[in-house]
Amino acid sequence: MRTMKKIMTAVVLLASITSLTACGGGQPSSNSGSGSSSVQVQKGDKTKIKHDDGAKTTEPKKGGGKSLIVYFSQTNTTKAVADSIEKQTKADVFRIEPAKPYTSDYNELLAVAKKEGQDNARPAISGEIKNLDDYSLIYLGTPIWWGEEPMIIRTSLDRYDLGGKTVAPFCTSGGSGCSQFRDDLVSAEPKAKVLDALHVEHSQKDQADNLTGKWLKDNKLS
Ligand SMILES: Cc1cc2nc3c(=O)[nH]c(=O)nc-3n(C[C@H](O)[C@H](O)[C@H](O)COP(=O)(O)O)c2cc1C
Repeated sequence: MRTMKKIMTAVVLLASITSLTACGGGQPSSNSGSGSSSVQVQKGDKTKIKHDDGAKTTEPKKGGGKSLIVYFSQTNTTKAVADSIEKQTKADVFRIEPAKPYTSDYNELLAVAKKEGQDNARPAISGEIKNLDDYSLIYLGTPIWWGEEPMIIRTSLDRYDLGGKTVAPFCTSGGSGCSQFRDDLVSAEPKAKVLDALHVEHSQKDQADNLTGKWLKDNKLS
């Protein structure tokens, strides 16, 4: 079963690479923000993180909770979806930036990402969310790398306790779905309420507003 899944992932990845090559501009380029350490939470207050280890519930926290979009994006496809969510919900935004920027060479990045996955690595993040307690709803977005979330997402899940919060996952890819990412999220955050994921293929980037709008409505988030 696991082998079959790996084969399926490899097939989708191959198709994705072919499509990236075929449509030219799809080659990952250096993340516009990845060379800097300009990670910041926009708008919200900046109080210290408190990990909520006690009295966790499976229900979202009640009472005036704010919404925060947390995402990683190497080539700005996931950013386009995050921007669309921000536009439609006015949520605050925290972009996950690697402390050491990823290579802009696509083939090198494939190898780096594969090795990070094999090593179950936790690449360091630059910046931090300083006011997580203010938020009861977290939109968590990522590209799909080798069929799952990049390890830098796991660094974030290790660092932040999302117990008691509602998490709305979204992912972008060349074709692979978000199910492995969502499963990993549920495992890492068993006390969060994890909603259905939004999947946007990179070829659908132009339709981000429509797809995001429908997903927000379906999940009663707008
Ligand atoms: C290292 C790497 C691995 C990838 N693996 C997959 C994959 O397994 N399945 C897939 O459909 N797309 C895969 N892709 C394509 C990306 O998921 C897709 O281009 C995504 O939208 C990029 O998002 P971003 O621009 O926010 O970084 C991969 C891309 C990279 C760079």
